[in-house]
Amino acid sequence: MKSPPLVPAEPAAAGDGTPYSALYDDVYHTAHGGLAQARHVFLAGNDLPSRWLGGERFTILESGFGLGLNFLATWQAWRESQARGRLHFISVEKHPFRRDDLAVLLAAYPDLAELSASMLEQWPPLSPDFHRLHFDGGRVTLTLLLGDASSLLRQLVAQADAVFLDGFAPAKNPEMWSPALLAIITRLCRPGATLATWSVAGDLRHALENLGWTLERRPGFATKREMLCATLANAVSPAPTFQAMPEDVSRRAIVIGAGLAGTAVSERLAARGWRVELFERHSRPAQEASGNPSGILLPHLAKDDALAARLSRACFLYALRRLRDLPGVRWSPCGVLQVARDSAHEILQRATIEQLMPPADFAAFLEREAAARLIGHAVVHGGWWFPGGGWVSPGSVCEALLAAGGERVHARFDTEVASLRQTDHGWQAFAADGQLLAAAPHVILANAHAANRLLSSTLPLTPIRGQVSYLPVDAHERLSFLHHVVCRGGYLTPPDAGTVCFGASFDSGDDDLAIRVADHAGNLQRLDELLPGIADGLDAAQLAGRVGLRSAAPDRLPLVGQLPDTDAAATSAATLENLPRRAGLHALLGLSARGMVWAPLAAELLASQLDGEPLPVERDLVHAVDPARFHLRALRRGTHGL
Ligand SMILES: Cc1cc2nc3c(=O)[nH]c(=O)nc-3n(C[C@H](O)[C@H](O)[C@H](O)COP(=O)(O)OP(=O)(O)OC[C@H]3O[C@@H](n4cnc5c(N)ncnc54)[C@H](O)[C@@H]3O)c2cc1C
Ligand SMILES: C[S@@+](CC[C@H](N)C(=O)[O-])C[C@H]1O[C@@H](n2cnc3c(N)ncnc32)[C@H](O)[C@@H]1O
Repeated sequence: MKSPPLVPAEPAAAGDGTPYSALYDDVYHTAHGGLAQARHVFLAGNDLPSRWLGGERFTILESGFGLGLNFLATWQAWRESQARGRLHFISVEKHPFRRDDLAVLLAAYPDLAELSASMLEQWPPLSPDFHRLHFDGGRVTLTLLLGDASSLLRQLVAQADAVFLDGFAPAKNPEMWSPALLAIITRLCRPGATLATWSVAGDLRHALENLGWTLERRPGFATKREMLCATLANAVSPAPTFQAMPEDVSRRAIVIGAGLAGTAVSERLAARGWRVELFERHSRPAQEASGNPSGILLPHLAKDDALAARLSRACFLYALRRLRDLPGVRWSPCGVLQVARDSAHEILQRATIEQLMPPADFAAFLEREAAARLIGHAVVHGGWWFPGGGWVSPGSVCEALLAAGGERVHARFDTEVASLRQTDHGWQAFAADGQLLAAAPHVILANAHAANRLLSSTLPLTPIRGQVSYLPVDAHERLSFLHHVVCRGGYLTPPDAGTVCFGASFDSGDDDLAIRVADHAGNLQRLDELLPGIADGLDAAQLAGRVGLRSAAPDRLPLVGQLPDTDAAATSAATLENLPRRAGLHALLGLSARGMVWAPLAAELLASQLDGEPLPVERDLVHAVDPARFHLRALRRGTHGL
């Protein structure tokens, strides 16, 4: 389902200078100060920061991000409170400000300058997605849901400890206070959660009471006599502070495979305080699919903005933020031009952009002449331009992730896990000679197509052989004009990437790792179709290159999450939510031809699931990558067990 393009907020001010929305004919906060209001109404109204002390994790859900003053005030209070744990702030916004506009608006708050700058640095292109931003080394996480509250909050998987209700005035913005939206918000709260808002409107009070909230009026901010605070019924009194974390002993995992998938999930778990035993059969990380000198970072676009396209966009934007944050990665967000395959594809590309109207800092369509001017070489057709895309060395990502994981990730190279056994306490991993390698409550299969060797019930993963070719160094000067990645049927990285890679072949079901001259010849042909003339005189037999195996599911989407228990009784009426699962057995597999794009957010999703945190993507997307989807389809078709 296509998400409607976002309509950004236009900055304006009321007569007294308070930020104002012409769309809603209302001000963003009282004339007596947005920050002071944030502290009085939303923080103190939820008994914060005192509830933070001594706990490990706290989740706040806000309706209406606006200028982000509530978030920034909360983050500042969090820092000052010396809370030790992790703060999740989730906020939904239908009309976000553009980065530059927000920068001007926030410049009025010099006290918040450092926090505002960090937030603006990560401010995403305004696409209708969930956007997860990490701050303070991951101790503070902001998940921005850009779009309409009632549709996006239905897609949120989270349990809030506190709610900030902050739409425009109910009379001007009734949908933000509707009983239906309040019911959705209430379902996203833990028992004992609290809520605060500056409005004491009668309809709001009745709706909240009907939903099980116990109301309390407290003195309002500035000229407002009263404000509303509420606690969700079934509270253990007093309202719980932090959510209790699982015992430290259960926050341990065995991860198998040190490619992009395994290193990414190990680092995400370590960032949450988990201890990881990471096994890799080679002597170093990134020796198989993740071992190419460089790969390209670009999303997949589709005119109907179907699930795969939405997931790919969210993953792409998250990957760019993570790469910017990780020291030591060799990469460049130099931009990617995806030239259309033929005239029909060119028409489709143009129409897709007209239909989706994506923000220009995410994607645009360039006519042939503009595309040629951009890259400095003739191209056969126009194409999509992704200004934030680029190239990355996947091996350097794996190394950087291992370094970021620190001592919490114990990497054991030259060690192949030959079998797994489930016990009463979790899982044991064994070497081929029967030696016990490790035991932990959780095991994560991040070993691509080799995962099926460890499973009694196999997953539908197919190896897809791919060979890349390297442009000989003496031919690099041919590309001295090129500063962007270009792709079409194949791709080419610019000389700045060091080894110039072009390719790649794509042979489904083929797992042969030998270099083939015929595949180099195929790559030369792709290069010639991409940039006519560049491949002239190059001899396939003289080229160097590398072969890797992509591992793909039939729908080409990754497998992220807990594996199904295919032996347990289940009927065709089962859903992904109630299907029996294998306790403690998880997958991060099937990264197919886009691992550099999928891996960071897929790892964040799996780590969030394992740690019981708010999920970083919509429920529909969680389901789209659920490894149990194939089992459920087989149950529904009645083919399971045949
Ligand atoms: C030719 C080619 C070009 C590509 N180009 C791009 C691109 O431009 N952009 C992009 O985004 N993606 C690209 N990809 C895809 C990307 O490389 C993969 O999606 C990604 O590397 C997969 O990572 P992974 O960690 O799942 O698998 P792998 O990197 O294969 O890692 C799995 C690891 O598990 C280890 N292992 C397996 N079994 C065991 C065991 N029993 N015990 C211990 N260790 C074990 C293996 O040794 C291996 O290191 C390309 C792939 C190929 C082949
Ligand atoms: C009062 S302002 C929020 C101020 C903000 N909390 C702050 O700290 O700066 C209300 C916000 O709600 C947003 N909004 C209004 N209707 C919405 C809807 N249906 N879904 C999501 N956001 C909405 C508005 O665009 C506006 O930014």
